Amino acid sequence: MRELALHILDLVQNSIEAGASRVLLVIIEDIGGDTLTIRVRDNGRGMDDATRRRVLDPFVTTRKTRRVGLGLPLIDMSTRQCGGYLRIDSQVGEGTEVEAVYRHSHLDRPPLGDLVATVKTLIVANPGLDFVYRHTVGGAVFEVATRELTSILGDMPLTHPDVIAWLDEYLAANEANLYGGARHENG
Ligand SMILES: Nc1ncnc2c1ncn2[C@@H]1O[C@H](COP(=O)(O)OP(=O)(O)OP(=O)(O)O)[C@@H](O)[C@H]1O
Ligand SMILES: [Mg+2]
Repeated sequence: MRELALHILDLVQNSIEAGASRVLLVIIEDIGGDTLTIRVRDNGRGMDDATRRRVLDPFVTTRKTRRVGLGLPLIDMSTRQCGGYLRIDSQVGEGTEVEAVYRHSHLDRPPLGDLVATVKTLIVANPGLDFVYRHTVGGAVFEVATRELTSILGDMPLTHPDVIAWLDEYLAANEANLYGGARHENG
């Protein structure tokens, strides 16, 4: 069982490989509707219809180092094992939106995993990327954006050890806060 955070890294990696300068990552935990949605939208080069239809086949990849691409087929399989689906919308030259939906309470649904480390890594490793992360649990929302952070930090680089340590605590506190009133997914 793969933690969903690893799938999230794969999706954002795809966006970066597609030349995106903007990436929006949204996680929506709709407890009432019993869905967990992961959505990644980018302004990368996009895919034509034929590619979009074929990418769920594990032998399709545009990468040169290895002939199979596994990211999307694995996510597709895991959503369908959990009463959900994977949807890909893409426009050549415009960008791509990938949405993975799981039944929140499904027994086989992988845990979200270490979102704090994942989001921290995505922000710190891609300081030039206009990255926005938004996580909703019921009515509670936490949003953080690279742009907002860099404007607060001024001359202090995102990669400064003190900034990374602060970011870690900031993300951890806000993620925990999302579950403050609601029941945590792991009980
Ligand atoms: N956000 C995106 N924008 C444009 N093309 C994409 C995007 N995501 C996926 N693709 C296309 O779909 C193909 C398959 O993606 P997938 O993640 O399944 O495999 P991969 O990235 O090629 O390899 P792997 O993820 O195993 O390293 C990619 O090679 C790329 O051509
Ligand atoms: Mg990939």
